[in-house]
Amino acid sequence: ITEPMGWHNHEDKSCQEYFQYKGINFPQIIYSEQVLQMVEDNFQVRDDDIFNVTYQKSGTVWMLEILSLIHSNGDPSWCRTVPNWDRAPWFETVLGYKTALNNKSPRIISSHLPAQLFAKSFFRSKAKMIYTVRNPKDVLVSLYHFASMFHPFKDPGTLDQFLESFLKGDVPFGSWFDHVKGWMNLKDKENFFFITYEELKKDLRGSVVRICQFLDKDLDDEAIDAVVANASFEAMKNNKMSNFSLSPHFIMNQKKSAFLRKGISGDWKNHLSAAQSECFDQVYQERRMPLKARSQE
Ligand code: A3P
Repeated sequence: ITEPMGWHNHEDKSCQEYFQYKGINFPQIIYSEQVLQMVEDNFQVRDDDIFNVTYQKSGTVWMLEILSLIHSNGDPSWCRTVPNWDRAPWFETVLGYKTALNNKSPRIISSHLPAQLFAKSFFRSKAKMIYTVRNPKDVLVSLYHFASMFHPFKDPGTLDQFLESFLKGDVPFGSWFDHVKGWMNLKDKENFFFITYEELKKDLRGSVVRICQFLDKDLDDEAIDAVVANASFEAMKNNKMSNFSLSPHFIMNQKKSAFLRKGISGDWKNHLSAAQSECFDQVYQERRMPLKARSQE
């Protein structure tokens, strides 16, 4: 990938602006209105597609790795030889769209799109979707660090400023609250499986078993163990196909913050002040999120 014009100065994020597509912010260059429109109206979902959908920073690449390993019956060779963005492309990106079109079935496709912008043909298909949700305070903290190292995103400013933008939904992919509410409308559908980052952390093996059941994949104990071992934070951090070290430097500056940063639940407690946490709780209450008991653990 060659460096697009105007992106020479890595440190200067002041000129980055988002464009809006149907009221949602998207960063320039890696997204385009044309591709977003094609994803929504033209993309042909296949019945054997598996979708890995999240609000950003909720465990997308972790689930991507788990699904890749299940796909290979626990054999890590695919994960160690092909970058994650080719194994399970983000189909709403300009490059990912093409990759998704060209990948062989059964495809794994990742997405951060809110439900109202998703491929219409999904809703008429038998394709399966796994939606991973994470404690939004941890999403906020993870996204705050990510925004400082991911060049297509605007500089996040102070945590106070970023908290305000996050709670208003004035960030790429819109509001966390709207995203979760929109997708959770599908929770009773047979082809929709919902899991939390916190469940993955607490019991990765049990989660992998449940995901296999949902996907009708019959893996023996040894294969399940291999999925769990190769999807650990350490294994992924050491795998250049999964840790984004192959990502061009004009896209990510991992010297500022690693993509696989901490990989824990509850890091928000190390970053949010009591006042910031209360402010968050207030908005959470106002939005009356159905997930409180699980995602606020
Ligand atoms: P932190 O910034 O809190 O460390 P996404 O893939 O949706 O962008 O989410 C990235 C977050 O998931 C990061 O959170 C990253 O460290 C975490 N993550 C990725 N792989 C993980 C793993 N195997 N175990 C635990 N956390 C993981």
